[in-house]
Amino acid sequence: MTRTGWAVMGAFALLGGCGGNDDDDTAARDERLVAEGKRIFRFETFGDEAKWTDTLRMHEVVATAVDPTTALSVGLKVDADALPQSVKDGIAGGTVDLKSPATTLALLKLDAVIGLKGSVETENGVDKLRRLGITCALCHSTVDNSFAPGIGKRLDGWPNRDLNAGAIIALSPALSAAQKAVFNSWGRGKYDPRHNIDGLNKPVVIPPAYGLAGVHKSTFTGDGNDLAYWNRYVAVTQMGGLGSFADTRLPLSVTNGTVDLVSDKLPALQAYQLSIAAPAAPAGSFDTAAALRGKLVFEGKGQCVSCHTGALFTDASARLHTLGDSMAEPETPSYAARSASKMYRTSPLKGVWQHAPYFHDGSAATLEDVGADYNSKRALGLTAQEIADLAQYLKSL
Ligand code: HEC
Ligand code: HEC
Repeated sequence: MTRTGWAVMGAFALLGGCGGNDDDDTAARDERLVAEGKRIFRFETFGDEAKWTDTLRMHEVVATAVDPTTALSVGLKVDADALPQSVKDGIAGGTVDLKSPATTLALLKLDAVIGLKGSVETENGVDKLRRLGITCALCHSTVDNSFAPGIGKRLDGWPNRDLNAGAIIALSPALSAAQKAVFNSWGRGKYDPRHNIDGLNKPVVIPPAYGLAGVHKSTFTGDGNDLAYWNRYVAVTQMGGLGSFADTRLPLSVTNGTVDLVSDKLPALQAYQLSIAAPAAPAGSFDTAAALRGKLVFEGKGQCVSCHTGALFTDASARLHTLGDSMAEPETPSYAARSASKMYRTSPLKGVWQHAPYFHDGSAATLEDVGADYNSKRALGLTAQEIADLAQYLKSL
């Protein structure tokens, strides 16, 4: 990655981008745009093979050492709908060898490994992996496990909390032992999207990319006024896509390559994400009577509604919060201090049942723990019963 002051293309991104209004939500109802955005979200690498193939040489590792069993064990997911019946029968019947990297190549050829995009060429009857890149779906999609654990229908926008992104990156032969140790320390469902910028090491949980229509501040720290701001940040500075990102608040200015494969994809990509609704709580997954009592706690004694306001349960479009308002602070290093806003955004709560653990650092394992944290740090005087009821209410959102 080259870091330059050449901020011509990156000027779009200055001060959090523009937009971030109700027009964006209207765009999310444009079917053609949304369909194009879905393709980009699932399959577009923005030319990031430059990083994953040319620099990190991940194609070599995948072709020689990552059989499907290993891939599933580090949280990679397989799209069952991309598999022909013969392959499904072979997996079910045990004739497809899940202990052979050649099978991984066959799955990549079918575009069946979620978030990985491989160029596979067949030479004398043998598959060769020429290029490998990653897509947004790697971290922000999972599957419903309907065929087998880790193999099923795509669930776009659901964070992949099984994914051990750090352990995957640490497989790169291009990294030093010290670098590998950092990546191996992250664990499942977490990623540090600022480590390669500031050298600090404290990963955050991979958040959902659903339920965001109407939330006009993106990321845990509300860095951007629209999703496109952060989509550009990740595509360029994390995925290694070709294009530019600049933000004078960080300050940061990055340009990869000499062409821009990112900018023209951002409107459709954003429209697709905004079209993804938060998943409703599964029937029977919470106690209805307790949830009704919990709602009263949320709106009353718990004072939750003072920040988690309105239908989206967030005041994000109106204000951000100082560090002390995050139950995960004080932490070292502080995540907000590394961000552009230096503040925290009140998390929207629709679909919160789906993505434990909670808070940006994942420090609350359950929604019961969330209630207990608020109770002690904000001295709310809630009873154990009230904390339990509050958790049932959160599970219903
Ligand atoms: C390697 C994992 C990874 C990849 C790949 C990735 N993200 Fe993320 N994404 C994260 C993490 C971690 C965060 C949390 C950062 C924060 O909020 O400060 C995040 C945050 C987000 C958010 C903010 C959600 C919110 O609540 O405001 C959106 C939207 C998003 N990503 C979309 C994308 C898109 C689109 C792509 C592809 C261009 C992408 N991500 C690629 C890990 C990833
Ligand atoms: C002063 C503002 C404020 C109040 C009051 C408040 N919250 Fe929050 N809430 C936040 C902020 C800011 C975050 C993001 C913190 C972080 O990720 O570090 C958050 C995060 C959360 C999360 C985590 C969501 C996720 O996706 O990980 C839950 C759940 C939550 N709050 C529930 C509650 C409940 C229940 C109450 C009442 C007991 C409450 N909040 C009171 C500001 C507030």
